[in-house]
Amino acid sequence: MRVISFVNKKGGAGKSTSVCALALYWVERARKRVAVQDMELDGGSSSFVEHIGHPNLAHYEDGDTYDYVLIDTQGGASDAELAEVERSSDLVVIPLLLAPLDVAKAVETAAKLHRPERARLLLNQTRANTTAWRDRARVLDAVPVAPLESHLTRRTAYANLLVDGWSALSREALTELEALAWEVS
Ligand SMILES: Nc1ncnc2c1ncn2[C@@H]1O[C@H](COP(=O)(O)OP(=O)(O)O)[C@@H](O)[C@H]1O
Ligand SMILES: [Mg+2]
Repeated sequence: MRVISFVNKKGGAGKSTSVCALALYWVERARKRVAVQDMELDGGSSSFVEHIGHPNLAHYEDGDTYDYVLIDTQGGASDAELAEVERSSDLVVIPLLLAPLDVAKAVETAAKLHRPERARLLLNQTRANTTAWRDRARVLDAVPVAPLESHLTRRTAYANLLVDGWSALSREALTELEALAWEVS
């Protein structure tokens, strides 16, 4: 069982989107058993589990075993909550957008980690040929956590999968998710 948590003190970074997209990928494509633990009261990922209704996708229950447990944290998580999540995770993923305020929050989040070597940055909503994308090396240098090689571009598929599930995913989105799933597994 591999536990992966998604943290960033900033809301809107893509924590819930990454959790739902990976969960969908693993249950549909790889036939894995996946549990989602949503730390946000009534957060998007727990409603997603209900909405999708897939036999291999569940809310996390203590004592049950799964291939993957994905922990979706809330933007305003306290330092104590983050520490607790980090303790129970094999890998901590910090999704972030390439915008100044987002980078500052990711730096703040990364600085709270006790074992940054077990964490990775996930660039989200990237768009090629933007200044931010060209400057990403400088941005990544600022955050004391190594980046994943894969990243998620901005796609309506990712926003739509919360409602439409698997059918929302285009071939390009699937290719990105496959790379991400492979890298974090
Ligand atoms: N790669 C992406 N492409 C398009 N929309 C995205 C992407 N990532 C996130 N979004 C959208 O951005 C918003 C915030 O994302 P969300 O995953 O809820 O962030 P968080 O859980 O970190 O607060 C949502 O409306 C989501 O649909
Ligand atoms: Mg969220």
